[in-house]
Order: sequence, then structure tokens, then C-alpha cells
Amino acid sequence: MPIAYLTRRTVIACAHRLYSDALSHSENALLFGPCAYENFHGHNYEILVTLKGKIDPKTGILFDLTQLKKIIHDQITLPMDHRNLNLDVPAFKTLNPTVENIAVVIWQALSPSLPKGLLFEVQVFETENNIARYRGE
Ligand code: NI
Repeated sequence: MPIAYLTRRTVIACAHRLYSDALSHSENALLFGPCAYENFHGHNYEILVTLKGKIDPKTGILFDLTQLKKIIHDQITLPMDHRNLNLDVPAFKTLNPTVENIAVVIWQALSPSLPKGLLFEVQVFETENNIARYRGE
């Protein structure tokens, strides 16, 4: 059976502030620049969720896209879209909401709802130029 990759794209709008409690105020300002400003700023995050699996010869698909859409809606869009990541999303209470960490948190939120081994990669575009990917390692 051929192995294929199936990707679903989702866009969410979120506010955040990049700030590490492990660094001093001036170190944060130096590392994160305007992203460390106290009163937050926003991004339209483009999220690409990719599954990898065998194409079912009966149906021709590797996973039901309607089901994937619902899982992403319930686990990612509802809790994160139009929210302040630092203040509203429990995972970021103590975790800096960098694009890398957002990719990891999205992976952790999705994987329990998907058949084991099916989730291949989460990509998060914070801007068109800044992109993180996570593969569950
Ligand atoms: Ni930012």
C-alpha cells in the first residue's frame, strides 16, 4: 500500500508576548526586541498539520479530512483563535509562546485525538518568513 502525506491548513489569530522568566528584563529586550513589549502584539498563525499513512485501498484516503478538520477545530481553533496565548492558553502560563513552542503545544494537543503514529508534522508560520516545524521528537 502506498504511503502518502495529507496536510490540513488552518489560520488562527492570536496575541502573544515573547518573554523568558529565566532572562533579565534587558536580556529579554535584547533577544526578543519589539516582541518583548509588555502589552502584547498579534500574528495570524498559519498552521499546517500533516499526517502520514497508508492509503486505504477501499476508500483511497489515509484519513477522513472532515474528521481532521473537526479535531483541529476542537483542539486548536476553539482554545487558541482570537486569544492571548500568554494569558488564555494554560500551556503558555509557564512556557514562552515562541513559534517553536507553539508547534510543540499544537502537536501535544492533537496527537491524543489521532490514531497512534498518524501525525507526522506540525508546521507553524508566524510570519511568511518565520516558520517552525515539529515532528514529535
Ligand atoms: Ni510575535
